[in-house]
Amino acid sequence: MAPRKIIVAPSILACDFSRLGMEVERVTQAGADWIHCDVMDGHFVDNISFGPAFVEAASRHTPLPLDVHLMIEHPAHYLPRFLPLAGSITSHVEAIHDVSKTLAAVRTAGLLAGLAVSPPTPVELVKPFLGQFDILLIMTVNPGFGGQPFLDSMLEKVAEAASWRESGVFDFHIEVDGGINLKTAADAVRSGADLLVAGTSVFRAQDAAEEIRLLRNV
Ligand code: DX5
Ligand code: ZN
Repeated sequence: MAPRKIIVAPSILACDFSRLGMEVERVTQAGADWIHCDVMDGHFVDNISFGPAFVEAASRHTPLPLDVHLMIEHPAHYLPRFLPLAGSITSHVEAIHDVSKTLAAVRTAGLLAGLAVSPPTPVELVKPFLGQFDILLIMTVNPGFGGQPFLDSMLEKVAEAASWRESGVFDFHIEVDGGINLKTAADAVRSGADLLVAGTSVFRAQDAAEEIRLLRNV
């Protein structure tokens, strides 16, 4: 199989919120592929980040697809508010919802549907939903906060998911999120990841364009 094109999605959780528009424009010009938006409700994770109004504001500063990551307890309830804004929407397998129904609603709206697994969750839990998602997001830190160290043990999950993809029956992106830098990105890509979320490493880089270029070519 031809090597997959690596997609780099900077997470605006790490940007300067007081300059949201300029920050989104900065990483867009620096060559980002997608913009990752981490929505947290203070229930599913122990942090509150931002909601649809903030995502809408970000959308006005980039033509790039927004990759919305819902770390919220009731994704189905809030889904309609994000559908018009996003290119892809990912909900967690651990959240309270009918997973198949949420994935189908995202696809019906013409978006890519993602399913996420947190570090304590075995990746096998998403297996019944193969064929129903376009993105499998493997969290490489415990969700809730940016700037945490990458959990190396998650690489096994990436490799396991990549083996499902090798059968050729199911095709989906393998997204890694949390603690991604040049070293951990290389490990993740070697294990089968093709979609890299990077908050701190891109937004705090001296040269965001160079960082994105290097991440894409790890
Ligand atoms: C964590 C979020 C991540 C986070 C990544 O809950 O899902 O997207 O912003 O940030 P870094 O790259 O700083 O680990
Ligand atoms: Zn995320």
